[in-house]
Amino acid sequence: MARSNLYGKHLITTQEWTKEELIQTLELAEDMKKERFSDKYAVVLKNRSFLMFFYNPSVRTRQSFEIAATELGGHALFLEPKSMRLKTATSAGETIEDAANVMSRYGVGLGIRILEAKIGAYGEGDDLIREYAEYSDIPIISMAHDKYHPCQGIADVQGYRAHLGKELKGKTIVHVWGHGALARSHCSVQESMLICSRMGMNVRVAYPKGYDLDPQVCEWTKKNCAENGMDFSISHDPAEAYEDAHVVYSRNWMSADAYHDGEFHKEDEVKKALPYTDWICDEEKMKLTDNGLFSHPMPIDRGHEVSDEVASGKRSICVDIAENRLHAQKAIMALTMGE
Ligand code: CP
Repeated sequence: MARSNLYGKHLITTQEWTKEELIQTLELAEDMKKERFSDKYAVVLKNRSFLMFFYNPSVRTRQSFEIAATELGGHALFLEPKSMRLKTATSAGETIEDAANVMSRYGVGLGIRILEAKIGAYGEGDDLIREYAEYSDIPIISMAHDKYHPCQGIADVQGYRAHLGKELKGKTIVHVWGHGALARSHCSVQESMLICSRMGMNVRVAYPKGYDLDPQVCEWTKKNCAENGMDFSISHDPAEAYEDAHVVYSRNWMSADAYHDGEFHKEDEVKKALPYTDWICDEEKMKLTDNGLFSHPMPIDRGHEVSDEVASGKRSICVDIAENRLHAQKAIMALTMGE
């Protein structure tokens, strides 16, 4: 594999990659899925290491990146920043500039996850990742932060292409808020809105009043849809947006007021979200769709975001998509870090 046009490029959100770059990544991920245990891509990261900083926990992201590096002939290793001595707003320590410069001498890429209670205001995680990108000579890959989750978005679309066909133009995806006690960040749903609208899908979002998403993301989604002649809509009804949808994506997310006074108020969020018991994806609502697929980035909060019947039903593609994280990340690493 020669150096690609994406070599050295950061991945903070798919909105910052061209549609051609995203299709190139998806096609490579699809081939990597087919060729998983052949020698075709076995030395793309030979003698190279991928570094990961996890401020927050992870199952899929950490395992799939480690396996992706191994299957490409390289290695991945992780650090929890609490074991580093980084400078913060309240304590002395190493700057991001110094950490990014040193990591650039060790690895060929650096993944970062920072969201939920690890920040004190929406946007701080994005700011931190962009500061790493400013000083780093190697690609910075978001492994989920407060605003975006690009690896998840690419894996989602890989799943829709496998189940609905490669031409997604004209298909409809609905993102429905789910009640529950998790108060999740906006990253997965916002990334899905952006990449699905780039792929030419109609994009709908449904949530109770007060759970507004980032206005910039809504604006970009609307613009992406308009460029493809498609529609973007927001509804506050727990069922109407399901009508004739091809994909239903359920997810709990925190309200627009979750961060204030420099803190994440999780307990208030949980108290506020739990009474919305109508906001669950169940079989009755799925009957309104056009034989819709059920999608979720996982981990799933069964009984809150979605019923067991739907999560484990024939139209659920959550596990396929979780598997795609591996193939999508192999493609991202090969294109941005490999030779
Ligand atoms: N979807 C996702 O990022 O899963 P993890 O939080 O387990 O990494």
